[in-house]
Amino acid sequence: MENLHAFVRRFVFLGLLLLALGDVRACGARSPYFGEGAQVLQGHSYANDREFVIKHIDMHLKVNFADKTIEGWVEYDLVHAYLLDNRKPGSVPPYHFNPITGNHILLLDHRDMDVLGVYGGGAYDKKTGSLKSKAKRLTYSVGVGTADSLLFGKPLQIEVPRSQSKIVIHYKTRPSAGALQWLSPAQTYDQTHPFLFSQSQAILARTWIPLQDKPSVRFTYSAEVKVVCAAAGGATADANGHRSSREDCIGGEDPDINPTDFNVVMSAVKLGNPEGDLILNNKVHRFEQKKPIPSYLMAIAVGSFGYKSLGKNTGVYAEHKLLDKAVWEFADLQKMVDAASDMFGEYAWGDYNVLVLPPSFPFGGMENPVVTFATPTIIAGDRSLVSLLAHELAHSWSGNLVTNRTWDDFWLNEGFTVYVESRIMERLYGADYADMLRVLGKGELDKTLGWMMKESPDDSHLRLHLGDRDPDEGLTDIAYEKGRFFLMMLEQLYGRKAFDELLNHHFKRYAFGTVTTDLFLADLKAFHEKNAQTLGVMLWSNFEPLVAAWIDGGGLPAPGVGGFPKLESKAFQRVEQQVSKFLVSGEPLHSGYSVPCDASVIDTTGFTTHHWLHLLRQLHTRADGSPGRLSRDEMAGLDARFGFTQTQNAEIACDWFVLAIQSDYRPAYQAMHDFLLKVGRRKFLMPIYEALLAQYVVRDGKYEPAFAQGKEMATEIFLQAEPGYHSVAARSLRELLGLPLSGGSGR
Ligand code: BES
Ligand code: ZN
Repeated sequence: MENLHAFVRRFVFLGLLLLALGDVRACGARSPYFGEGAQVLQGHSYANDREFVIKHIDMHLKVNFADKTIEGWVEYDLVHAYLLDNRKPGSVPPYHFNPITGNHILLLDHRDMDVLGVYGGGAYDKKTGSLKSKAKRLTYSVGVGTADSLLFGKPLQIEVPRSQSKIVIHYKTRPSAGALQWLSPAQTYDQTHPFLFSQSQAILARTWIPLQDKPSVRFTYSAEVKVVCAAAGGATADANGHRSSREDCIGGEDPDINPTDFNVVMSAVKLGNPEGDLILNNKVHRFEQKKPIPSYLMAIAVGSFGYKSLGKNTGVYAEHKLLDKAVWEFADLQKMVDAASDMFGEYAWGDYNVLVLPPSFPFGGMENPVVTFATPTIIAGDRSLVSLLAHELAHSWSGNLVTNRTWDDFWLNEGFTVYVESRIMERLYGADYADMLRVLGKGELDKTLGWMMKESPDDSHLRLHLGDRDPDEGLTDIAYEKGRFFLMMLEQLYGRKAFDELLNHHFKRYAFGTVTTDLFLADLKAFHEKNAQTLGVMLWSNFEPLVAAWIDGGGLPAPGVGGFPKLESKAFQRVEQQVSKFLVSGEPLHSGYSVPCDASVIDTTGFTTHHWLHLLRQLHTRADGSPGRLSRDEMAGLDARFGFTQTQNAEIACDWFVLAIQSDYRPAYQAMHDFLLKVGRRKFLMPIYEALLAQYVVRDGKYEPAFAQGKEMATEIFLQAEPGYHSVAARSLRELLGLPLSGGSGR
């Protein structure tokens, strides 16, 4: 009997070895064993989540402003996947295990950080904040991956004994960590304290927490965060000989800054005092996220900011001197939450708060659960840009509750969200308002399609095939606007009531799970077949090819049933009339002609931000997509009458600067330059830098290309501004300007 067992054991061992070798041949790489060969990137991640899944992480983080690092002790609750369905250990391909010890190998994503140790569960001593004496060390190594390590990082390979379901990783991020931006006091509103925020989507969570960094893995988390302002053991020097000291932390000016001045938020419910609990001269901020979330929703922000409630489960965090303005601007937040819950089902995340970040935040908003991160550029002073809040709130259903399984399915996050956003806006402010937003969205989509159909037409499909390309490349108006118009088409086909049932079913069925394009299409088919007759719509067999044209076809379908939906804005027809009036008030749109178009003919009574945006976009992009140019007199006339150069509305400023550059209207350049130094929102930066590259100048009354000069100007401004940009914005701009992409943060 004993012999038989030994024989079987040896047989199983040999079998596994052979299987593993088979695997080697199949992928053409060397053995995927621990420490050897290249790990394969799948879905932008090295995680072997068919062998292990992270279920929960418990984090102890020390945020250090002096050396711009986060030091983490993170305990992971793991499930060995073979236990999930009673498979044998090692029976899950592709068999990452150590054949000598029999230990399984856990592969995690990590980048821009140093791993200081890996231990068996329970290794971290909460009281002392360090390693317990009995902690058991686990073997780990940094592997080699098949894809660009500057972008994807490298697989962290950890040997996990079969008896272990908890491990602890001790690590420290580098100052270059791509997700994190460390701001000096001068880069904040109050100018008194440094600030830190994260931006994890799409694949940057791995730069501040080692994780299975792919949206198909969901886990819960708890966290304890401490802020420190000094390098450990006083002033120290880093590898480059730069001294880190308390002064670096506080910007040098105010010696009275204390770690206790800081507030912390995470994408989780904050426990205890919203300002943190004082424990021994320092504050501890504790968080709990009991709902499983994907890694890209991991978030943290640290700064000196306050909080005010806006309603029963809504509130706003902002720097102290900005807080009241934010409270006024976001007055309708509670109504938005109530309207959305009413239409799409219960809000799942407890409270909905918004944190207003410093202006370098690279996005308009980021839907981090419990606390949306937002750019301060939505505080326009007239509540006109709050659709961004409706958008981020909408992600509480589409994205956070029901998540795109892969970044190829990104339109399921963003297209659904833009659709839900516009329903929220319509409910609060009426159909005319929502129609303006839809038409503006269509304009952006047309502009995107203008270059995309020439350069990368396959990217205009809703379903992407990114392979090993940066998921950031999928962040285009296709996912957002083509996605939204596809859903709008379905709404117009089925009627709102029936379509809402489909949507509600979707949010319920996949709640706290993930969804693929195919799953959605299967549900759509089932819904269609069940209801076609009652709703009086065409048969699925006729509809299917129309749907396929949206999902896997290029560009936009022609208008019609199942094609591009009906879309018009009465409010904008008035704007278009005014633009025509302006354009015919003078002789052709060229410098040197004697009769410039006359700004005084434009009737702007009742214009809101969106009317202005439509007006400017009519002027800066002609019907054929080419750039519009106005003469200096015409620009000066518009500027004198409407004060565009001095506008405090960042959306309007952005469109005006584009028109100004295209028109070689120099009086706007100083303000444009200041804007680029202050604001880091990529959506504004890209079109302005692009316009600079495509610069024309006026010589002898004629427009002449001045691309070399434009590039020089753009590069000079960029290099000056770059230290204030977040890595994702800096990276895109480096690509645009043809500058080298260097390590970590893309700097
Ligand atoms: N989740 C996105 C931002 C994002 C997407 C960051 C992909 C990184 C990768 C967010 O919800 C968003 O769409 N923001 C928009 C808001 C706008 C559409 C109202 C933005 O930042 O401009
Ligand atoms: Zn979004």
